Amino acid sequence: MHCRLILALATLCVTAAAHAAPDAAPAAANPACSIDVEGRPGKQFGPDHIVVPSTCTDFTVRLIHTGKNGKEKAGHNWVLTKSEDIDAVMVDGIKAGARHEFLAPGDARILAKTPMLGGGETATVTFPVARLRAGQSYTYYCSFPAHAQHMRGTLVLQP
Ligand code: CU
Repeated sequence: MHCRLILALATLCVTAAAHAAPDAAPAAANPACSIDVEGRPGKQFGPDHIVVPSTCTDFTVRLIHTGKNGKEKAGHNWVLTKSEDIDAVMVDGIKAGARHEFLAPGDARILAKTPMLGGGETATVTFPVARLRAGQSYTYYCSFPAHAQHMRGTLVLQP
């Protein structure tokens, strides 16, 4: 594990281990209420579409940065907004700059987000499914500059 080398990453590794443990929170233990999303080299998310079961109370996304670059050079995060909000969230995020991971602090249009990751790192985010509405289109994207054009996917609540 590379993460053993860098103290700052230890927290992320502990978080990942906790979610892999058998006694993890119910939302994470139920595969239907959680999903792994890879942030891949070439600015791609895999998968690029997620259907959240309406039976879940909470939904967990585990983002895995499968590249090798550090987060200053090619970071990836997972940011969820309504599809119609993404452009404005991106504009405000770029203004907020790198120290805020290209997301405006306190932006209520951001429904869920992970920290910005460097290559080999993993993080999870859990959000209440009650935050989602059926029939609404949601988009997730990476807020690293120039990544979002390709690095985005869609999410819907299962009708
Ligand atoms: Cu990215």
